[in-house]
Amino acid sequence: MLKLTKRPRRLRNMSALRDLVRETRIHTDDFVYPLFVVPGRDIKEEISAMPGVYHLSIDRLKPEIAELCQLGIKAVILFGLPEYKDDRGSSAHEENGIVQQAIKEVKRLAPGMCVITDICLCQYTDHGHCGIIRQGKIENDETVEVLAQVALSHVMAGADMVAPSDMMDGRVKGIRGKLDAAGYYDIPIMAYSAKFASGFYGPFREAAHSAPQFGDRKSYQMDGANGMEALREMELDLEEGADILMVKPALAYLDILKAAKDHFNVPMAAYNVSGEYSMVKAAAQAGWINEKQVVLEILTGIKRAGADIIITYFAKDAASWLKQTGV
Ligand code: PBG
Repeated sequence: MLKLTKRPRRLRNMSALRDLVRETRIHTDDFVYPLFVVPGRDIKEEISAMPGVYHLSIDRLKPEIAELCQLGIKAVILFGLPEYKDDRGSSAHEENGIVQQAIKEVKRLAPGMCVITDICLCQYTDHGHCGIIRQGKIENDETVEVLAQVALSHVMAGADMVAPSDMMDGRVKGIRGKLDAAGYYDIPIMAYSAKFASGFYGPFREAAHSAPQFGDRKSYQMDGANGMEALREMELDLEEGADILMVKPALAYLDILKAAKDHFNVPMAAYNVSGEYSMVKAAAQAGWINEKQVVLEILTGIKRAGADIIITYFAKDAASWLKQTGV
């Protein structure tokens, strides 16, 4: 026999004991579920690269919201596909735009649901970029004005929190100022602060019809190699008035999430993005991985790294698995 005084395996002997010493627990309260809303009637179309995720028309939100409530999911983030696009993303801030209608409908169906909205122009511009373009360049400050208008229109429709994802400089300040001036000083901002120019958004851009028509997003989204810059971005967003900071994507950026969690004393969110979802779905469909085990492992990893909030297309699956587990 080895003379070992420390035997870590002692604490792994039985399931109930493992549960006692488990350090990280994911809970359905942690999840935000993304919804893609489209104009028209009676539409529920699966997004081909994202099995199990749908384009929904407003009239088809009812069963979806009922399912979320039944599963205990209390927060959604809304994305809209507008009726028309132009070079200024005007359809993003219409009083009766697609997201504005969806906000009202979700709040009508489930008043206690936390309705978060994504604030960006890329779904609404004909060129597919997140800002207004002049001579091939994004006009930062002019874009911020439009984004603030979009945020105000969402809040006026009843949104509980806004989440700017455009990566313009000063957008949190612009949005905070606009909301405060209109009396909405109580509405929080969840800033996509460390948002990287990532290949993992591919399936989302198909889902949201928001792929840039020329070039890429590297002049505004961050270089994935830069951790210090991510902390600077987050610091700036906090100074400008952000209430929650986000890192996006999640999996290739867990070190940044961890650093931010250690560095700042505000809630952290992580966006487990479309490509991260599609990869798992594809491998699971091919029979190469056990989907449930992998999904719960990924979500636990994101939480262990420091996320208080996880935005994930797996929210419904995970919520139903978490309901089932027991001794
Ligand atoms: C809008 C936006 C994007 C995502 C969330 N908001 C796409 C992008 O920046 O290109 C990606 C979400 C996902 O991939 O699941 N700017």
